[in-house]
Amino acid sequence: MRVLVIGSGAREHALCLSLAADPAVTALICAPGNAGTAAVAEQRGVDPLDPADVAALATQLAADLVVIGPEAPLVAGVADAVRAAGIDCFGPSRAAAALEGSKAFAKSVMAAAGVPTADSVVASSPAEVAAALDRFGAPYVVKDDGLAAGKGVVVTSDRDAALTHAASCERVVVEEFLDGPEVSLFCLTDGRTVVPLLPAQDFKRVGDDDTGPNTGGMGAYAPLDWLPGAFVDEIVRTVAEPTIAELAGQGTPFAGLLYIGLAVTSRGPRVVEFNARFGDPETQVVLALLETPLAALLRATATGRLGEQPPLRWRPGYAVTVVLAAEGYPGTPRSGDVIAGAEISGIIHAGTRRRDDGAIVAAGGRVLSATATGVSLADARDAAYALLDKVELPGGHHRTDIALRALSGRG
Ligand code: AMP
Ligand code: GLY
Repeated sequence: MRVLVIGSGAREHALCLSLAADPAVTALICAPGNAGTAAVAEQRGVDPLDPADVAALATQLAADLVVIGPEAPLVAGVADAVRAAGIDCFGPSRAAAALEGSKAFAKSVMAAAGVPTADSVVASSPAEVAAALDRFGAPYVVKDDGLAAGKGVVVTSDRDAALTHAASCERVVVEEFLDGPEVSLFCLTDGRTVVPLLPAQDFKRVGDDDTGPNTGGMGAYAPLDWLPGAFVDEIVRTVAEPTIAELAGQGTPFAGLLYIGLAVTSRGPRVVEFNARFGDPETQVVLALLETPLAALLRATATGRLGEQPPLRWRPGYAVTVVLAAEGYPGTPRSGDVIAGAEISGIIHAGTRRRDDGAIVAAGGRVLSATATGVSLADARDAAYALLDKVELPGGHHRTDIALRALSGRG
């Protein structure tokens, strides 16, 4: 199978590593990729947001399957263009990707499907925002309605900061604050069948102890021993299946990866967000534990044959990943610094680029992540931090508490 992966982040590097290890994959191409994907896949240039450009590249490469990593190409309609060119594509249509592209749309689907989520109001004017803030009270949760690379959400007890964030967005969703640990559950779906992957936990805030602003995610681990045994089945039954059925009923079937972000509150699990693609950095830990070959699984998802697949097989043990971010992230990151140790096995690249002289330099906010497995969570965690210790990036920063609470059985 000839597979083309679209994107240039750590998620795409992790996807490429799994696909490269799959004997069914005869050719692997990544576009536009990064310095890490270049080591395992043929590299091609492409504008990932241009549907015609991606479809033309897939045709030229005689790809059997295109895997679209990030949300922005999905929302731009890249999957539609690839399918229109007669090529199997992993990733939802533009219409179905609105589940991630518009928080207001996601809320309306959840309401129609009876999915448990935070109570919310869509607000456009300052007066509507102020009324919504007063209705829900502090802490305030204000979300940009559109795509914002994980940085469109402000959670704060400062009413002025909440109003300021809302004023910087065209339209916002204001919602009730959800208390409790977060869980990311990825579900493969072909539009009918839902197959959950292992639950993972991401760490969204930039600083230790969940302090500082939100980021795209600073680290992750899987699986989550502190969840009740029936948790995944319950979420598939109460969230994933009703959502997929609702979208199919509306004439916008969703095939690809449904990312369910949940808060486990005292009143039960509530959906915090949906995404229309694999999460980053959770993909690094989930794929590190997946034993089932990936290519056939993604192709079955793309072609309505997920129900024919055998049950997934998982490696025993745990995986932990710790993100190394550039100085300044999640504000404006400093780029161009040389990274030492970037080519060690287990280092998954995000914002990296190989310079003409061969050096690998930082080229983004989240630069790379150190991923390791272990028989226990403590082993995996120690191994991930030991790996990160071997990497040097001037001004780089990372969290020191990824998976720490889970060592004592807490979420
Ligand atoms: P989102 O982009 O909707 O996932 O939001 C990003 C992050 O903001 C989430 O992972 C949570 O940490 C936080 N967040 C979002 N919505 C809420 C909420 N209703 N209550 C508390 N925290 C939230
Ligand atoms: N880790 C959060 C995300 O991928 O959106």
